Amino acid sequence: MKILYATSEAVPFCKTGGLADVAGSLPSALAAEGAEVAVVVPLYRRVRERFGDQLTFLCYDYVNLAWRHVYCGLFSLERDGVTWYFLDNEQYFDRPDLYGYMDDGERFGFFSRAIVRMLDHMKFWPDVINCNDWQTALVPIYLKDDGVREDRFRSIRTTLTVHNIEYQGRYNPYVLGDLFGLDAGWVEDGTLLMDGDLNLLKGAILCADAVNAVSPTYANELKMAYFAHRMESVMRQCEYKLYGVLNGIDMDRYDPARDPGIARNFTAEDMSGKDEDKAYLQCLMGLREEAHVPVVAIVSRLVSHKGLDLICEVLHDMMKLPMQLVVLGKGDKKYEEFFHWAAQQYPGRMAVRLDYNEELSMAIYAGADLFLMPSKSEPCGLSQMIAMRYGTVPIVRETGGLKDTVHPYEAWRDAGNGFTFANYASNDMLHVIREAVYLYKDYPDAFGRLRKRGMECDFSWARSAGEYLRIYANVTGQVWPAPEAAPAVEAAPVEEAPAAAEETPAAEEARPFEQAAPESDPEPVKKPAPARRGRKKAAPSAGKAETEKPAPAVEEKPAAAKAEAVPAAEPKKRGPKPGTKKKPKAAGTKAAGETKKKGTAAKEK
Ligand code: GLC
Repeated sequence: MKILYATSEAVPFCKTGGLADVAGSLPSALAAEGAEVAVVVPLYRRVRERFGDQLTFLCYDYVNLAWRHVYCGLFSLERDGVTWYFLDNEQYFDRPDLYGYMDDGERFGFFSRAIVRMLDHMKFWPDVINCNDWQTALVPIYLKDDGVREDRFRSIRTTLTVHNIEYQGRYNPYVLGDLFGLDAGWVEDGTLLMDGDLNLLKGAILCADAVNAVSPTYANELKMAYFAHRMESVMRQCEYKLYGVLNGIDMDRYDPARDPGIARNFTAEDMSGKDEDKAYLQCLMGLREEAHVPVVAIVSRLVSHKGLDLICEVLHDMMKLPMQLVVLGKGDKKYEEFFHWAAQQYPGRMAVRLDYNEELSMAIYAGADLFLMPSKSEPCGLSQMIAMRYGTVPIVRETGGLKDTVHPYEAWRDAGNGFTFANYASNDMLHVIREAVYLYKDYPDAFGRLRKRGMECDFSWARSAGEYLRIYANVTGQVWPAPEAAPAVEAAPVEEAPAAAEETPAAEEARPFEQAAPESDPEPVKKPAPARRGRKKAAPSAGKAETEKPAPAVEEKPAAAKAEAVPAAEPKKRGPKPGTKKKPKAAGTKAAGETKKKGTAAKEK
């Protein structure tokens, strides 16, 4: 099975959010399962600067994008059994940030076009291209377009992973031909049209062979108006090919027993190190060094869908509880101002850093006792898994991946791995915070067992990689695992029921946290589980990846642009050497501005 993973960011090369963590660890987990995997990412300035000397220049070619004839360099790097390809065009990608430019539509239109056109220069012709979010949403469209003329493009299947449906890549339909080089038919038949906008994500949802949301609950939520950002009817229409495979985390990178970045290592069996991590955190943040007062932590982008309004509403009631509060993150001004002000009201008990700080976030995961994540919506969420791994008990709202990974504490049978509340209501949140704080204070043994259950959960990618491979097998019609690797059974997958039954206990064992999420089986929601499966290898190590930063460094900005598209000058052919500095651009070489309808401007990611 040959898989090309197309992404606009990936750890350790470039990151603004959770997509980068997934793209940084899933491909090597797929490779560990025996698939041939390559990843393709733009060669951003920061990649060139930090990894330029490790890249090999392969070739360059020209990519036709509408009337443009654009240089595209191809660099590569081998890492953890995966080939990484970097597509180079300095005009588009030699910029300080990944996103937030007026020509983001053109930049990622180019990226998607180039992925398809540069396939000839890559190591293998993929069976499947896995696209991610709106930035690579045009890949299935271009493949279909090219497939009309060239048969070989028709052999490639596509899957789309939706990490956050809020960001859809919306533009004025007027730019379809000029910017993306597509025929008006794509809008006229509605494929790329949504609420009067050109909508790239909608096109990919319709055209991809399978769509994967990043958790089973999110896959269901996407069919509801509350969560789907107007895409619910499209998702319902595509329910037959909708999957919900839960993300994993890099269990080697996030390992409290070996993490060199925390003050003291500890394990579920010997938690003494965590006490020191807590004292260190309190000292670092200027909190009173009180060992028996629980530290509640928030590490988040400070934006509305993270549920911060709930905290604003009841912060003073929270602070009446015997607890301390640590907040790390940056984002919307109103939240930054609120937390800054609130911290001043509770000196020694509440500390806030309006920052995006990797190292500090790890000190918080290691040193805190409780981790608060009351998201209004959360496609998957990685922070709660990292927190659990470090013995920090999560308090979450039951949505998306939070619901699939955190199971509420049940005192009567000593079960669960965290605290949850269902309604988006501040008093419900306050109630569970109170429950958690008093369990910590009054029943330390029960709290210790709860903590331990969280630490022992298997959040590894190995489990999810197997599920992704089954999706790829479904869309390609290939048998997975490949017949030669499988025991001598005829290639009649549906008849392999005994094999499936045999594996069930093992699979269950590997997902102790998934009690409420049996549907994480990667069949489209509602289909019966296929018999074909088989993950034989142990959890792969996805290599040292850059640490999770729940608060991204780069906030997406709407790619707002004036209605009139300014034609871009054809980017010059660039030297093949990474690291070569680009000359300042001549006036007038600005890329074409994509248009966005007023009032419908979406925040693009
Ligand atoms: C997005 C989602 C987050 C998810 C991540 C990786 O950032 O908001 O919930 O964990 O993508 O899929």
